Amino acid sequence: MLDLFADEAPWQEPLADGAVILRRFACANAQALIAQISALAALSPFRQMVTPGGYTMSVAMTNCGDVGWTTNQHGYLYSPIDPLTTHPWPAMPDIYRGLSDAASKAAGYVDFTPDACLINRYAPGAKLSLHQDKDELNLQQPIVSVSLGLPAVFQFGGLNRNDPLKRVMLEHGDVVVWGGPSRLFYHGILPLKPAHHPATGEFRFNLTFRHTR
Ligand code: SIN
Ligand code: FE2
Repeated sequence: MLDLFADEAPWQEPLADGAVILRRFACANAQALIAQISALAALSPFRQMVTPGGYTMSVAMTNCGDVGWTTNQHGYLYSPIDPLTTHPWPAMPDIYRGLSDAASKAAGYVDFTPDACLINRYAPGAKLSLHQDKDELNLQQPIVSVSLGLPAVFQFGGLNRNDPLKRVMLEHGDVVVWGGPSRLFYHGILPLKPAHHPATGEFRFNLTFRHTR
């Protein structure tokens, strides 16, 4: 199918030590990636998870892969079972694995083997507060984060919550890879501005690939 966003050649922007933005890296595959989101969500639906503190997250989430990121009253965990369906999460599609492999290599990380892909869906106003990705047992492997649809402001800080933040707009097809010295850097997404995107309508989607074990 003709991809209306595939005509811009990708380029790279350094973000921090060990972190890079691969601008438009996923544009050529965006339509296929988005089609898979619908297929995956038909098996494990999007849901707004409740934090251990009892707060309902504004971002709707689902997962694919051997394990998926989820919450319960005790904390955050990677589980092989979707607690909503009580079945395993859907398998990670080959095009997801292929994109994550190409992006991690382009960022200089060899042998990234994700076993989890968290799929975030942002509606207008949805945000992700500043946090570290630290529920993975293996911190040697990077995080690969793919943005699809509406643009959003990504905040990227340092190892301490109050370190200065860089703010960058992430657009359709942008991929952020962080690892090594920046693997545990705080990051978040500011509230999504209402708009319309030809590929995703009112939403922004984000795929984050992780190696958890
Ligand atoms: C995340 O931190 O897991 C997602 C970041 C994003 O939505 O870009
Ligand atoms: Fe994160």
